[in-house]
Amino acid sequence: MAPYRIRLYRDEDYDAVRSLFARGIMEHAPAMYRHVLCLTRVQLGLLSLFWAVCAMAGSWLLALAAVVLVLAAMWPVIHSFSKSFVTEALVADLQDIDSYYMRAPDSCFWVVEAGGAVVAMVGAAPTQDLERPGPAMELKRLSVSREHRGHGISRALCGEVLRFARARGYGAVVLYTSTVQLVAQRLYESQGFRKVLERSPSLFSRLICFHLIHYRLQLPSHP
Ligand SMILES: CC(C)(COP(=O)(O)OP(=O)(O)OC[C@H]1O[C@@H](n2cnc3c(N)ncnc32)[C@H](O)[C@@H]1OP(=O)(O)O)[C@@H](O)C(=O)NCCC(=O)NCCS
Repeated sequence: MAPYRIRLYRDEDYDAVRSLFARGIMEHAPAMYRHVLCLTRVQLGLLSLFWAVCAMAGSWLLALAAVVLVLAAMWPVIHSFSKSFVTEALVADLQDIDSYYMRAPDSCFWVVEAGGAVVAMVGAAPTQDLERPGPAMELKRLSVSREHRGHGISRALCGEVLRFARARGYGAVVLYTSTVQLVAQRLYESQGFRKVLERSPSLFSRLICFHLIHYRLQLPSHP
């Protein structure tokens, strides 16, 4: 892998950052689809559909076609569910990265450059602590391009956010990830974060047992 360097976000990184974020989220859509297919209620629903069509139409081929049709129809639903996360972020903090992260107090955004391209990113901004009254630093929008994974880049970016939070006197770093982001969960746990809360952001996500998982890391107190 080409050597990489972590640096502060600049205006010319705007498109690369937004597209890296979108790719990082959208790649979880197939995992989300598999997650939904593994749900007992979905499997029972498909089985019931199969037997119902079999009984009504007297054809197992038609019943199979009905199941395949439902399976195919589920994909765009799951895809657009993932897309809604991307859209939300792109019109929120990632709409004006400079104002949200680079000009706001106690906030920052870093990118990783390798071979002249932006290959990873992370942001930090103050939020409400999950466990105690008062503020905590939130680690946001961590993403590493596929070709640059497995080389410790995300660990280095987490380290950057933790140092930033400590230097500004924060006692904790919080973040959230999701049910299907298993690598991210492993990463955060290996960095000392622990799960403090799981919640479903909508009725649909509750139906498909999709949770946002909140993590928290207590920083060592200052001397
Ligand atoms: C999650 C992600 C940021 C990890 O980036 P990365 O640079 O490949 O991670 P690193 O090489 O720094 O690995 C750090 C730790 O993550 C975990 N990890 C990384 N790749 C893994 C894999 N393929 N399987 C299991 N664990 C893995 C390990 O705990 C690893 O520590 P170790 O090397 O000591 O075992 C990256 O996969 C990604 O961008 N995914 C898409 C977007 C995303 O899900 N972002 C998280 C938002 S909450």
